[in-house]
Formats: sequence, structure tokens, C-alpha cells
Amino acid sequence: MRDTPLDWTDIPYLVRPMQVADIEQVMPIERSSFTSPWPASAFEYDLLHNRHAHYFVVTPRPAQEAGEPKPVSWLNRLLRTTPPSPSPSGPVLGYAGFWALVDEAHLANIAVAPEWRGRGLGELLLVTVIDRAVELGLAVVTLEVRVSNLRAQKLYRKYGFEVVGERRHYYSDNGENAYIMTTGIITSAAYQRRLAELKEALHAKLRAQTAPPPAE
Ligand SMILES: CC(C)(COP(=O)(O)OP(=O)(O)OC[C@H]1O[C@@H](n2cnc3c(N)ncnc32)[C@H](O)[C@@H]1OP(=O)(O)O)[C@@H](O)C(=O)NCCC(=O)NCCS
Repeated sequence: MRDTPLDWTDIPYLVRPMQVADIEQVMPIERSSFTSPWPASAFEYDLLHNRHAHYFVVTPRPAQEAGEPKPVSWLNRLLRTTPPSPSPSGPVLGYAGFWALVDEAHLANIAVAPEWRGRGLGELLLVTVIDRAVELGLAVVTLEVRVSNLRAQKLYRKYGFEVVGERRHYYSDNGENAYIMTTGIITSAAYQRRLAELKEALHAKLRAQTAPPPAE
């Protein structure tokens, strides 16, 4: 494992906090990803009124980022606390959000636009969620996932999630059961070691990708 922090400014993507103006681009991804999509108002409520909610979007990294001075922590390198311009850069390629509830981060949603799947962006978003949860002092990340959603389950298992329970008939559209999955203690040395290895592999994978279309 390396002992210097990874430099995420050399990947062609940027993760930043979701803004209300992003919802317009989030909704088509939401609708193409879920059989019971959230309405735009649910995202808007969380962004504007839910102080426990933390949402992120991944976009292509704007070209002007290349010459920017390097910020301090790896997460700050990946995230921006301020948008690059008054209107958010686009296009939005994927998003994820969680609620900080007592000592856990509950993953509310994670989705990547169908044409951008399979490149590591789901992982990038999940890593962002886990790191922000650690920053907030939370102990675990939990979620519900459809029993049939093997692709998402594989992603979660890769990051140490395990099935700890099942909610029967959780999804109202088809009555499907949900698995409850949770990580071990994300601040533990063992988890952090494994996470660092996964991040390093993810970084190498993303860095090797050709830049997506430039942000508008
Ligand atoms: C689940 C989802 C977010 C994954 O995003 P993604 O960008 O395609 O995933 P990544 O490229 O980052 O892949 C990361 C890991 O996910 C798993 N995975 C991704 N695509 C997979 C596929 N087609 N089959 C099996 N596993 C897959 C693998 O474990 C993969 O790691 P690997 O490359 O080492 O095998 C995406 O498929 C999606 O938006 N699905 C619809 C919405 C959804 O189901 N959300 C989860 C709700 S609980």
C-alpha cells in the first residue's frame, strides 16, 4: 500500500456536491435506473431542507481544472466545495446520496447513466460516500438493495458490505424483497487498509480512461 495520498486531479472526472440545478440532469438517470424513480421534489427537499442528506454528482472534469493548485486532502481533490461556475458544469454522469443517521450513513441512492456504466463511476461515487461518512465520524454504511439486483450487490460486496437482513415485500412495484447490507466499521484499520487498496486500483483504472466530452 502506498503511503502518500492519491492525486485524483489526474482522472478525467470530478465529484462534487449535488446542487438543485443538477436535478434536471439527475432525473433522466433516475428514471432509466429505477422502476419506481424518485420525483424531482424528493431530491429538491433533501438538498434544501434535510441537513442529514449528502448528495454528490460525477461529471467530466472541466479542462481548466488542469492548472489549478493542488488542494490538501485526497477527498478535497476529488470533491469541490464550490461549483466551478455559477451554473453547475455538466453533463451529470451519475449521482449518489446518503443520510447521516445517528452513527450510520444510509445510502439513499446511487446510479450511473446507462451509457457510462462499467467504467468505475459507481465505485467512484461509493468511495466518495464512504469517505464522507468517515469524515462525519459515522461508523458504518448501510443500504437496501433488491434481491434481484446482482450487479449492485457485487459492487457493494467489493467494498465490504454484507447481507445482514431481509425486508419482505419492500418494493411496492413488484413486491420484491430487499436485502439490508452493511459494512463493517469503516474507521477500523482493517477496513481503511482494504479501502486504500481498492482506491488505488480504482484510481489507476480511471486515470487510464480517455477524457469524456468536455463540460459545457
Ligand atoms: C449499480 C451501478 C451504480 C454500478 O455503477 P457502474 O459505474 O456501472 O459500476 P462500476 O463500473 O463502478 O463497477 C464497479 C463494480 O460493480 C460491479 N459491477 C458493475 N457492473 C457489473 C455488471 N454488469 N455485472 C456484475 N457486476 C458489475 C462489479 O463488482 C464492479 O467491479 P469490477 O469492475 O471489479 O468487477 C449501476 O449499474 C447503476 O446505475 N445501476 C442502476 C441503479 C442501481 O441499481 N442502483 C443501486 C440501487 S441499490
